[in-house]
Amino acid sequence: STPGLSTTKQFRNLLLSDQLEFICEAHNGLSAKIVQEAGFKGIWASGLSISAQFGVRDNNEASWTQVLETLEFMSDATTIPILLDGDTGYGNFNNMQRLVRKLEQRKIAAVCIEDKLFPKTNSFIKGDAQPMADMHEFCGKIKAGKDAQSDPNFSIIARVESFICGWGLAEALRRAEAYRQAGADGILIHSALAVPDEILAFKQEWGNRCPVVIVPTKYYATPTDVFRQHNFSIVIWANHLLRSSVTAMQKTARTLKEQEHLLSIEDKVAPVSEIFRLQNAAELQEAEDRYLPRG
Ligand code: SPV
Ligand code: MG
Repeated sequence: STPGLSTTKQFRNLLLSDQLEFICEAHNGLSAKIVQEAGFKGIWASGLSISAQFGVRDNNEASWTQVLETLEFMSDATTIPILLDGDTGYGNFNNMQRLVRKLEQRKIAAVCIEDKLFPKTNSFIKGDAQPMADMHEFCGKIKAGKDAQSDPNFSIIARVESFICGWGLAEALRRAEAYRQAGADGILIHSALAVPDEILAFKQEWGNRCPVVIVPTKYYATPTDVFRQHNFSIVIWANHLLRSSVTAMQKTARTLKEQEHLLSIEDKVAPVSEIFRLQNAAELQEAEDRYLPRG
């Protein structure tokens, strides 16, 4: 992150930069800090991952204020911009306006909303059975969000689910253009195919009308240079810290249950001192010296 630059401006710079940028998923304060320390210039606050870490489904089962509270921890732990996966905006244009104001208060740089219905379902669960939002209603939601922001650099990304829901390229382009005209700062084009054909076809037709963001979770084998050559704006690694932590936790829990002993675990997990470092325990030690009466 660039010191002194607001997170909103940092995100806008990523969106508009002429090179391919990458942001990585986080789902709480700790994972957000880990993303920043790895050198990423931004964070995807994934709806799937935040839901999952609460132990609930990606169907708006966690309330939007519970998401907001999680975001506050993430924002407090970091200085790089956070792009919230805002699902469908948690309601209509009015809910979207309140969301944008609350996000700005918590220094969240941007929000992405998708053109489906509340309560949403994850795009990888029977996508073609999912209804899309009315295009004009969704345009109103984008406009309302843009009118609600007070920082001109706050960004709204419009996510087009036409490929996911089985409507194809022409509908994707029609919607993306309508959303751009409604004021979206960028388009997220999503696909559930194992190959990048849909998003590449979209980008071919779209050109450079406004920045395009992608989520290659399903077409993970595509070389990153392909995205670079097609002039995409941002690649989102959308759920990989959650998934790697699940694998690690399952392994540790199973081993402990089996062995009833810590010996084979100790050197495979982060030392307690690393947890203290991530929490910035040293700062409290110094503060205690400063503020507590000397005994
Ligand atoms: C998320 O990370 O919650 C997303 C991306 O929205 S996806 O799971 O691919 O829908
Ligand atoms: Mg999501």
